[in-house]
Amino acid sequence: MITFYGVIGDPIEHSLSPAMHNAAFDALGMDCYYGAFHVKGRFLYEAVNGARCLGFGGLNVTVPHKEIIIRFVPADETSHDIGAANTIDFKTNKAYNTDASGAIASLRDNGVSVKGKRVLVLGAGGAARAVTYGLLKNGAAVTIANRTAPKAADLAAYMREYGDVFGTGMDNLKEKVAIADVIINTTTVGLNEGETLVTADMLNEKQVVFDLVYRPVETKLLREAKLAGAKTIDGITMLVRQGALSFEVWTGVKPPLDAMERSARDAV
Ligand code: ATR
Repeated sequence: MITFYGVIGDPIEHSLSPAMHNAAFDALGMDCYYGAFHVKGRFLYEAVNGARCLGFGGLNVTVPHKEIIIRFVPADETSHDIGAANTIDFKTNKAYNTDASGAIASLRDNGVSVKGKRVLVLGAGGAARAVTYGLLKNGAAVTIANRTAPKAADLAAYMREYGDVFGTGMDNLKEKVAIADVIINTTTVGLNEGETLVTADMLNEKQVVFDLVYRPVETKLLREAKLAGAKTIDGITMLVRQGALSFEVWTGVKPPLDAMERSARDAV
């Protein structure tokens, strides 16, 4: 009998997760199917309980439901600390967050250890929250720079118990970029072709630039980083790793990253 999985969000139609997870199930010959479900906030509780009652193996939870979900699905330590979850497992009936470890895995798989490094996180929204937590737990010193400076200060204050973190605005960004070993874009800037907060003249070849935006795959920021000779990591890398970690939570099996990555890159 098929075991069903899926992602719930609003909007959801452009999700790459079905392609990615079904590629992994196919590669492993597992009798499972992963779908995308458009769930409005007012139906979130019913949708999750419906999936549980229908015998689903698990769910991914995406924008805008990642914070609300932990009000009624018990959170594991990481998702509790972050205040958001992206994965529900119906075996344990728990919510997990694989965004933080997915970001760290993306860096690690590209030969980047963040321990003792200075990392500049651009943005202070939901994605920045998970990424900052992962970085701090792995020994990085983090500066969060956000257009709305008080949001960066609030996030830094919340995260301070996990490590060395400071929140600031986007002013003097050139100087902030110059002293960073790793720059991570968690803002939505770059979704529109040709937009970037950081340009080649601000970067150098010793730096690592990681963009969470994956549509387009090669953002203006990544093109600028390449021009400056910096190491680049794209958003598909992150998407695949957070997905692979969810897959492992549900099945206990490490999925083939190459099959997942190929299908995600084809689908985008
Ligand atoms: P996500 O959950 O993907 O992190 P979000 O919570 O809506 O999305 O956060 C979006 C982030 O992109 C915010 O940090 C936002 O900055 P503000 O807090 O100042 O709104 C940032 N952002 C969006 N558009 C931006 C722009 N044009 N310039 C700079 N930052 C921008």
